[in-house]
Amino acid sequence: MTFNALFLDHLTTRQKQAEEALSHAGFDALVLGSGEHHTYFADDQEAPFHTVPHFAHWCPLQGPHHLLVIRPGQKPTLIRYAPEDFWYEQASLEAIWGGTPYWAEGFEIVEAPTTEAVWERLGKLAKAAFIGTDLAGAEKAGLSVNPDKLTKHLDWTRSFKTPYEVKCLEAATELAARGHKAALEAFLQGASELEIHHAYVQAVGCVDHELPYGTIVALDEKGAILHYEGKRHLRNGRVLLIDAGAKSHGYGSDITRTWAAPACDSRFKALLVGMEKLQLELCDEVKPGLHYGELHKRGHLKIAGLLHEAGILKADAEEAVELGLSKPFFPHGLGHHLGIQVHDVAGKQLGPDGEFKPSPAEHPFLRTTRVIDAGQVFTVEPGLYFIPMLLRPFRTGDHAAKFDWKQIDELTPLGGIRIEDNLLVTTTGHQNLTRAHLPN
Ligand code: GLY
Ligand code: MN
Ligand code: MN
Repeated sequence: MTFNALFLDHLTTRQKQAEEALSHAGFDALVLGSGEHHTYFADDQEAPFHTVPHFAHWCPLQGPHHLLVIRPGQKPTLIRYAPEDFWYEQASLEAIWGGTPYWAEGFEIVEAPTTEAVWERLGKLAKAAFIGTDLAGAEKAGLSVNPDKLTKHLDWTRSFKTPYEVKCLEAATELAARGHKAALEAFLQGASELEIHHAYVQAVGCVDHELPYGTIVALDEKGAILHYEGKRHLRNGRVLLIDAGAKSHGYGSDITRTWAAPACDSRFKALLVGMEKLQLELCDEVKPGLHYGELHKRGHLKIAGLLHEAGILKADAEEAVELGLSKPFFPHGLGHHLGIQVHDVAGKQLGPDGEFKPSPAEHPFLRTTRVIDAGQVFTVEPGLYFIPMLLRPFRTGDHAAKFDWKQIDELTPLGGIRIEDNLLVTTTGHQNLTRAHLPN
């Protein structure tokens, strides 16, 4: 199937699922807004624009104020906000996309020169819901604004990717893989965090705000800061932890690799080899029917086993997990759903009605409590870090003697390890989207 045909097929699925969701929630029409610009406080500068994900689920058109109108049995209408403006570049769809966009035939497209005209083009709709940010416009048009039941239903459908979405995620992975390869090369030449970041962005071929999230480029001890944002000038790190993705048609990848320079402590290198092995083993276990929470627990067991093997934990894997000793080393969840949003919606939903299964008390940062099912795309990202603030209470606690504090202190300056792939669940198992482009 061509990409264009895949998109039309995706729209057919969207239409069918939206009709079910509308009927379930008691509406006759759905209006999706693409969003509005956010202006910084007391400033006239705008934050980078992010499309409302529900809109992006239907249409990859960028920019604010567009509306999409979905009615049962009708081709969706796209009301494109197309102002005349000399401050910012405005162009025809053809000029922006270098020809007719591949998605255009899926919509009746009308254009409106002002935001008021966009709403006027909508006309009168009975029993219609609106999902988006322009609440005043929607209320004035008599729409029900962001109804929870409908939104949850649509969120649920977002966690089963169509073949078109899988193609977008694959493309996002392929782009990020180029960046990761360039980053590794830069690191091995002794580049700084900032230089590695630049190498990454250049290889992906975009500017920073077009990435799905700000890159995490951490040398040495900064790898133990889970969402490290700095970009130091310091060169010749011994360890690089880089967590960075790329976007394609609105869908993002989320990939982490950790690398050790030749001069790195051999004990840390052995942990890295162990983490690579256990990450692949965890990926291998992914198939429909398994609870994601169970996979997360298996991750703890494996990480505890690795720490025991390294002599860092004196308790064996079972005892260490039982006593919670692996938690300071692996304090985050094993992964999360991925799609239009990096931490995609519905990770804790049990069904289209929005019933919710919270993270277990002992693993509060687990972002998905779902049963693994075909069509889901999620990350598998075990981590092993030396985080002083999390280890501190254990130094004096009941189980202090079960840790090799000397080794921990010697490895703490090297930060940590995370290895993160993006997996598509198939009917019989899974496809590792990342390793196809980034084998290691
Ligand atoms: N890049 C953020 C995460 O891995 O969840
Ligand atoms: Mn992630
Ligand atoms: Mn990540």
